[in-house]
Amino acid sequence: MDIFDKCKTDGGYFGMMRARNDFFFTRPILDPLPGREMTYQGKKVVQWSINNYLGLAENEELKAIAVEAAKKYGSGAPMGARMMTGNTEKHLALEAKFAKFMGKEDAILFNYGYLGVLGTIQSLCEKNDTILIDKLAHASMIDAMFMSQAQFRVWKHSDLDNLELHLKRVNRDRKGGVLVVTEGVFGMTGDLAPLSDICYLKDKYDARLFVDDAHGFGVMGPGGRGTAALQNCLDKIDINLGTFAKAFAAIGGVAGSSREVCEWVRFNARTQVFAKSLPMIYVEVLSRTLDLVEAGEDRRTRMWEVNAKLKTGLRELGYTVDDVASPVTPVLVPFTELDLAMTILKKMREEGIFLTAVVYPVVPRGIVLFRMIPTASHTDEDVDRTLAAYKKVRDDLHLDLNAVHDALKRHEAEKKAENKDDDGKPSI
Ligand SMILES: Cc1ncc(COP(=O)(O)O)c(C=O)c1O
Repeated sequence: MDIFDKCKTDGGYFGMMRARNDFFFTRPILDPLPGREMTYQGKKVVQWSINNYLGLAENEELKAIAVEAAKKYGSGAPMGARMMTGNTEKHLALEAKFAKFMGKEDAILFNYGYLGVLGTIQSLCEKNDTILIDKLAHASMIDAMFMSQAQFRVWKHSDLDNLELHLKRVNRDRKGGVLVVTEGVFGMTGDLAPLSDICYLKDKYDARLFVDDAHGFGVMGPGGRGTAALQNCLDKIDINLGTFAKAFAAIGGVAGSSREVCEWVRFNARTQVFAKSLPMIYVEVLSRTLDLVEAGEDRRTRMWEVNAKLKTGLRELGYTVDDVASPVTPVLVPFTELDLAMTILKKMREEGIFLTAVVYPVVPRGIVLFRMIPTASHTDEDVDRTLAAYKKVRDDLHLDLNAVHDALKRHEAEKKAENKDDDGKPSI
């Protein structure tokens, strides 16, 4: 057997999508200039699929800083890993600035949020340790868990009783440390983890907590300090992780924790030690971005306004929009065959509205989730145009929007029938 044999099949991760490779459902080709309006197949569309929560992707001041930094340093500086030749005063200053923002003693920059999750968890968790991971945790946490070689258990999504059960079980014959990992705002579904209650449990059972707040960072809570700040438990989160790829409209990530933990991670995170450091362009831009994020109440207020108008309008049209406390707007639409989901998407794009779709296993079978991200840049006209398109699609395709409730009920019944304490494996 040849190692490449599988490449000729439609198996593997997203196999069906790869077989279609239609540059439509997955890998649509967009003009790279991000914003509320983007160019898709030569046509301007209202964009609801990028995580540009605060509208900073269009910010001219930040672009000018990037241009100046590129002129001064080129695109590759500094050369080398932080451990060797890639450390600068500006990296250290930015880490200190983020530590303050995150209410932590120290912080570490990573080149991607993904690499931050991977490096932080991998460096801290060893063979005898146990990771308790939320069923819907992002792929980066799952990969980190496997990379670490620690034991793991999957707890039911945001289910505190189930988490407690696992904590008790692990403590029965505990061999090492225990790390609970979860997202702050769940990026796909938009719901918030009950962080304050999780903190109570992790303290009760002598565990630690890692929160990947990629979607809450810059968005939620006072000053955009994130989901934990919103829930008044920032000081109790042992490690808080933010990415710059969303509200910060850049590239990179940052993990905040105690000085001791950060020092350990600095010298043990493989994605930090063995990878080139964050380029100066980002270091320079992010320092100013952080100022704008911190002072960004107007932007957050506008984002929430767009969010409210969009959610209300969709519900008035009969669509099911999950009631979540983040700006993520999960629109649930029933479908019997994948082709119908594609048709809905296609028609929306024809109407000049760009959405992306999420299907099982992130959402129950029979439902397609249009995950919409309202941003501070969207106008009221964008929302009106989008609602008109949703109405047209509903009417033209005679969508039975109530079928969502049946699909959700079926899903709940299936879950109840299984009645397992342990969800077995992570979702993605
Ligand atoms: C919850 C979560 N964690 C981590 C990441 C990875 O972040 P980055 O794109 O900065 O690597 C993402 C991005 O999709 C995410 O949604």
